Amino acid sequence: MGNVTVIGAQWGDEGKGKIVDWLASRADMVVRFQGGHNAGHTLVIGDNVYKLSLLPSGIVRGTPSVIGNGVVLDPWALKAEVEKLQGQGVTVSPEQLWIAETCPLILPIHRDLDALREDASGAGKIGTTRRGIGPAYEDKVGRRAIRVCDLAHLGDLDPLLDRLCAHHDHLRAGFGHEVIDRERLKNDLAEIADFVLPFARPVWRDLDEARRKGRRVLFEGAQGVLLDVDHGTYPFVTSSNTVAGQIGAGSGTGPGAAGFVLGIVKAYTTRVGSGPFPTELEDADGQRLGERGHEFGTVTGRQRRCGWFDAVLVRQSAAVSGITGIALTKIDVLDGFDTVKICTGYRIGDTVYDYLPPNAADQAAVEPVYEEMEGWSDSTAGARSWAELPAQAIKYVRRIEELIRCPVALVSTSPQRDDTILVSDPFAS
Ligand code: IMP
Repeated sequence: MGNVTVIGAQWGDEGKGKIVDWLASRADMVVRFQGGHNAGHTLVIGDNVYKLSLLPSGIVRGTPSVIGNGVVLDPWALKAEVEKLQGQGVTVSPEQLWIAETCPLILPIHRDLDALREDASGAGKIGTTRRGIGPAYEDKVGRRAIRVCDLAHLGDLDPLLDRLCAHHDHLRAGFGHEVIDRERLKNDLAEIADFVLPFARPVWRDLDEARRKGRRVLFEGAQGVLLDVDHGTYPFVTSSNTVAGQIGAGSGTGPGAAGFVLGIVKAYTTRVGSGPFPTELEDADGQRLGERGHEFGTVTGRQRRCGWFDAVLVRQSAAVSGITGIALTKIDVLDGFDTVKICTGYRIGDTVYDYLPPNAADQAAVEPVYEEMEGWSDSTAGARSWAELPAQAIKYVRRIEELIRCPVALVSTSPQRDDTILVSDPFAS
């Protein structure tokens, strides 16, 4: 039994929650390795619905859950999420939740900057979640972040704040914003330190021990490969590496720990925020996908843009992330379409591409080349075996496998955990 790494293979919101919950219930440890509380994972367990943004999904079932150093941590958001879960009867204690001491913190000044920039960007805005994710990562690589371990040394904060405030005050002044209230920031940090510190530990050691003992670890990715800062639709991306290759650097383990890389893939395509989206549908079909798929963002409530399945992008995601197999989700949303389309290439003028060109202007200009297939009228909702799927739906899945050059490991046919067609068990493969 090896480890499993779950990542989104599109622009996020692929329906990771259900699959991750199923895998988390069989893992010994669940690890987040990038992103922050910009993520939104919905877990449906029996009659209860849990919405997680920052906490690893294992937390709901009491599985040891790790927030790795590759995550940017908003300590106040953490407190709110922990308290909300506790209100739903979930135990969140230092026995279950382990936070890397080296996690950079998201501070209120990061949220400020995120919003100031977005508001000033007009049509060019990224459409971020405004949670300070990007500015916090900038301070990390700029070597001026305050990290979880610094909360244990409040007396030594001044030189760190000097570096941080000098940088941010210049930026804020440029936006006509007031300078940082340093005393208030210090007091806020001192206040939240007592909440965060009991969870802080050298998680790289826990991971090393888990490896030596042959424990099963689930690495839980957030967002999706097309939002990766290197491999995504730059600059309309998030500020972390969302590819599977990030697990090592983002948690303190070796790259070989990834195990089976499961890419979560929606049977059509959605995106929140700005940026290129070659197969976007701004017609009745797009509206229908949005309505049937309940395509509203978990974090911001924004309506998601919808379009046909883009095999070019998913093939690219599978390649850059080393995806072993995919979990295809929400196929039932396509039930009842007379025809369904799959994008198999792009065109700009006379030039045909079998990948998404890297330049933002080219990405905005590509025209999708479609392959059209007959749809199916019977329902796929709740199917648990291939035999329960209409023949045309099976053809659609098989064609996707062929085009993305990656096998389907499971097909999810409703938010309920058992409504799944299991082809190969990622933990057993
Ligand atoms: P940021 O991560 O808040 O900086 O936002 C950057 C881009 O990533 C925006 O287009 C967001 O809509 C998108 N994004 C961030 N997190 C998620 C997510 O969990 N699902 C889908 N899109 C996301």
